[in-house]
Amino acid sequence: MDGGAVDRVERERQFHDARFAGGEDDRVAQLKYYDAIKGCFDRYARRRLELAKDAVVLEYGCAHGYNAIALAGVAKRVEGIDISKQAVDAGNNEIRERGITNVNLSVQNAEAMDFSDGTFDFVFGSGILHHLDYEKAMAELRRVLKPGGVVLFTEPLGHNPAIEYYRKKTPEARTPDEHPLLVPDFKKFDQTFDQTDVRLYGLTSLGSVLFRKTPLRRLRERWGRRSTPSCCASLASNGGLGTR
Ligand SMILES: C[S@@+](CC[C@H](N)C(=O)[O-])C[C@H]1O[C@@H](n2cnc3c(N)ncnc32)[C@H](O)[C@@H]1O
Repeated sequence: MDGGAVDRVERERQFHDARFAGGEDDRVAQLKYYDAIKGCFDRYARRRLELAKDAVVLEYGCAHGYNAIALAGVAKRVEGIDISKQAVDAGNNEIRERGITNVNLSVQNAEAMDFSDGTFDFVFGSGILHHLDYEKAMAELRRVLKPGGVVLFTEPLGHNPAIEYYRKKTPEARTPDEHPLLVPDFKKFDQTFDQTDVRLYGLTSLGSVLFRKTPLRRLRERWGRRSTPSCCASLASNGGLGTR
């Protein structure tokens, strides 16, 4: 790795170790906005469960590995990697305490993992690709995936001006190097995997956050659902599926 890349990965490690050490999480204030893209996360969870069945699975950027651990009962084997030792140790403690034997988390750099080529049937992750050197991540994902394997990601997008403004106003909630995905990143995703399906969520449903605690919630949910198939580029989040 060149010096710049080492610094970047080290900054990520330090930021997330501090975040996961139990101090105040600056992102809590933003959780209400995730309500607007519930459809995205629901679909991500459903597909994750389907694709993990009897598979050798990797959670890419797993943090504490809650999602990896939740697949213990359906997958053949689950590995999770993250740069934060703080998070990985906490996840492995939970795995040990619960007597789970087919899930293991390790501290690894997602851009240069220790796994052999063609190890995994299924790789998934959320909010990880935008923390990485995207080109290196694509190459690494393709390398560790078996022929016929599948990747599934959900990531923030950098095209919504309102969200970009909010991000500029709250720099303490993110690392200096993260880069929400842009349309050219989808092209690279398409070039890396043989078949891809990119869905965009959250342009008009962002306003629905205002109603999340009111009796209009049901209307809000319908609004959020209707707006999800939009394919405008100015959106908050996407779910990306690619097969090798
Ligand atoms: C926004 S958090 C998402 C965590 C988890 N996927 C989730 O959805 O809660 C980003 C994660 O990426 C990890 N990360 C950042 N750079 C990394 C790298 N180079 N290699 C592995 N993990 C990295 C961080 O430690 C952190 O856990």
